[in-house]
Amino acid sequence: MAVTTYIGVVLLAFVGLLYNYVRIPNSLPRQIPSVPIYISLMGLFSDMGQNEIYDKWLRAKLQKYGAIKIWFAGRWNILITRPEYLSDFLKHEEVYAKAGSQKKIPWSVIASLVGDNIINSHGEDWKLYTSVMKPGLQKKNFDTSPILYKSRRFVDLLLQAQRGLPEPNGVLVNPLIQRFAIATMAESFLDIDFGCLENPGMRIEELQSIIKRTIFKPLYFNFPALDKYPYIFRSRARAFTIMKEFEDLLYHLIRNRPRKLERNEPVKPEDELVVHMLERALEEGRIDDTQFRANLKIVFLTAHENTQQLLNSTFWQLGSDQSIQDKLRAEVLATGVTDPTRDILEQMPYLTSLVCELLHVYPPVSQLINRVTLAPVTLGEKLNLPKGTWVGWNAPGVHSDPAAWGPTAREFIPERWGDEPDEILAKARRETVRGRYIAFNAYNRKCLGQAYAMLEMIMALFELVRRVK
Ligand code: HEM
Repeated sequence: MAVTTYIGVVLLAFVGLLYNYVRIPNSLPRQIPSVPIYISLMGLFSDMGQNEIYDKWLRAKLQKYGAIKIWFAGRWNILITRPEYLSDFLKHEEVYAKAGSQKKIPWSVIASLVGDNIINSHGEDWKLYTSVMKPGLQKKNFDTSPILYKSRRFVDLLLQAQRGLPEPNGVLVNPLIQRFAIATMAESFLDIDFGCLENPGMRIEELQSIIKRTIFKPLYFNFPALDKYPYIFRSRARAFTIMKEFEDLLYHLIRNRPRKLERNEPVKPEDELVVHMLERALEEGRIDDTQFRANLKIVFLTAHENTQQLLNSTFWQLGSDQSIQDKLRAEVLATGVTDPTRDILEQMPYLTSLVCELLHVYPPVSQLINRVTLAPVTLGEKLNLPKGTWVGWNAPGVHSDPAAWGPTAREFIPERWGDEPDEILAKARRETVRGRYIAFNAYNRKCLGQAYAMLEMIMALFELVRRVK
């Protein structure tokens, strides 16, 4: 009897603790609905895609209320898609402060990967990293020759992979895209040719596939507390080792890069890349070694992953609808050039609108919940949020909402952006400020690599459709 009572008490205590852990805090706004917790855990027991889950359980609520309560990363959060909420939220980073995994779950595998960096930091640290890196991320005179060179090699390799294959001769494009995206950004930001486009199996590139598989495991994504126990969950111990291997290898390759060792005189200020700026800041003691490493890693990760994702979507879209390819190819061939300059590319309306639409329908950063309220605040003059509330957004949700984009919101229509490059870019800026187009985020924490990413995309696309059908 005593044993039964004891077990009963332990069970009750356990249920009580569990209830307390997963219940929705009363302080969160009641006028918006919540999504049942099992929907967030769907990835654990079903192979439904994120789009399917969104359509089935989130879309209707978000389109009606503009915001919902949702379980993510071990807590309840507010997820928003209504443009008015978004522009209010993105405009006021002083209240909705950036707080990445290094703040939210500092013990986790993902935090060990990214550290405190220019994307996830807030306040003085962010200002410091920005003052060091921004000029290199937003260079007006990016040398386009390495981008064009790597685009050519990429297309050569695609064609080479296809040659000799039996019909239907499909090529798995993602591995090549990853190698292209890493090689290209390394030339433009890190002053190094990793050689990973030409040579498959380079460890620094191989590690990226392992990292992507490791980070996005639904169990640890939803219960990051498990990362505290690597001695129980052995795969997490291995995950920590992989993150460390990546950091050390990248650091070693960058600090000992041939171009640095062979250089006899300092880099001219106008030729400086982000890596030179970071190295100078380290030598002058403005940032320490940990900050140097974290920012080096984040440049490596963010500058290849998003482009990789967008290029994958591009192949899908161009493959699904040949008429888009034909229209783009006609525009490319009409230029009569094989060595496009930045000026020529930026004067091509269909190419520009195509990239804007790819970002509209397939935003590579699809959902982020990485801001926390520093004080009680009213979101969009409607939702009262207490201090310490985690808030985030879902970009495909915003971009596919008919209230913002009309009845064709979910269709792929490059023409919706306009007919002239200036008009197209002006529309993209306008929709960004209104909180309807958030592929690169908006306001003071918007993407600093946007112009570079657009340049890389239009250059790669030009070369691709010029030579491949
Ligand atoms: C298609 C490509 C890209 C997309 C869609 C993209 C998207 C984004 C988004 C959505 C954010 C905001 C993240 C947040 O709210 O936490 C962001 C921030 C940022 N991105 Fe990109 N990005 C792309 C390419 C790049 C590239 C090539 C770089 C170059 C290193 C870069 C550097 C940054 C930086 C430094 C920030 C942080 C800005 C700040 O908080 O001050 N991005 N990007």
